[in-house]
Amino acid sequence: LNNGLARTPQMGWNSWNFFACNINETVIKETADALVSSGLADLGYIHVNIDDCWSNLLRDSKGQLVPHPETFPSGIKLLADYVHSKGLKLGIYSDAGVFTCQVRPGSLFHEVDDADIFASWGVDYLKYDNCFNLGIKPIERYPPMRDALNATGRSIFYSLCEWGEDDPALWAKEVGNSWRTTDDINDTWASMTTIADLNNKWASYAGPGGWNDPDMLEVGNGGMTYEEYRGHFSIWALMKAPLLIGCDVRNMTPETFEILSNKEVIAVNQDPLGVQGRKIQANGEDDCQQVWSGPLSGDRMVVALWNRCSKPATITASWDMIGLESTVSVSVRDLWQHKDITDNASVSFEAQVEAHDCHMYVLTPQAAVSRSDV
Ligand code: GLA
Repeated sequence: LNNGLARTPQMGWNSWNFFACNINETVIKETADALVSSGLADLGYIHVNIDDCWSNLLRDSKGQLVPHPETFPSGIKLLADYVHSKGLKLGIYSDAGVFTCQVRPGSLFHEVDDADIFASWGVDYLKYDNCFNLGIKPIERYPPMRDALNATGRSIFYSLCEWGEDDPALWAKEVGNSWRTTDDINDTWASMTTIADLNNKWASYAGPGGWNDPDMLEVGNGGMTYEEYRGHFSIWALMKAPLLIGCDVRNMTPETFEILSNKEVIAVNQDPLGVQGRKIQANGEDDCQQVWSGPLSGDRMVVALWNRCSKPATITASWDMIGLESTVSVSVRDLWQHKDITDNASVSFEAQVEAHDCHMYVLTPQAAVSRSDV
């Protein structure tokens, strides 16, 4: 969407994956505090996004949305002020249907009123869900909220949550800043890998202003191993997915923090070229030895060797497969070990990758002739 936002994928936190409906204003404030004190905010995680269940069960007598009086007694405006005072942005949630998925009032046919009230509260981001949609197509239900948000004059990130209905990559670029390509993620290896493959299909449609959204991160929620979460984070970064943390950042383990704070992997996600990397090779039983890759600015490439097999494997990335000229030599930097493993690789390189682990590298051509010199 051409609203000046999402030049790179959005980064931040969302309440749903860990808290579901158990949210309140204290959790949101403490999360904002933790994003700042942990250093995650400085790394780019600036959106603090409230998901479903913030609203009261009914609109007020004037038909306006109101925050739940017990869990958000101070109101969203004061919460936004607090989040802004920390240098962060506040996101909210509604639904392009008559109810949200947790049966709070939805915004279908109330787009202008609701966009106005969100803007008046100082909201910076709207996640717009797809429940209770009366069977109306998303392409009809999502643009009215885009127009209503635009008409407020406030800059509001517009995140479509239509679960991949009607292949949004084909129509959502003019509607939202990101669009969900799949059903909801859950905190399992099976869910995460399935979603990665589904999102991969739409790689060519992503770019600055509008990103494919394979759903929020489960890193730190306990259902996967350290290696599996490292793969989850690596592949989401490489796919230019939104990096929305879904754990309780007030209580992260050092391992969770190490993954989420990997600056070199974040830099891949936030690379200004904005091209979604993709799966380019899958070998072995069930195609479990995988190479994912894509271009980065400065003629560099990102390569992930992702071992989805249940035993260790040696995985090879060849120049031929990743689209480098056969004569090019590159330096190879390992983004998880944080070191240069060679300054002179040619034709291919390989690594032994543990079961369900993922290595990630940036390849920089030697003596690259930059495009502007040609
Ligand atoms: C849907 C969305 C989720 C979450 C829940 C909240 O399932 O896809 O991301 O927002 O609703 O009810």
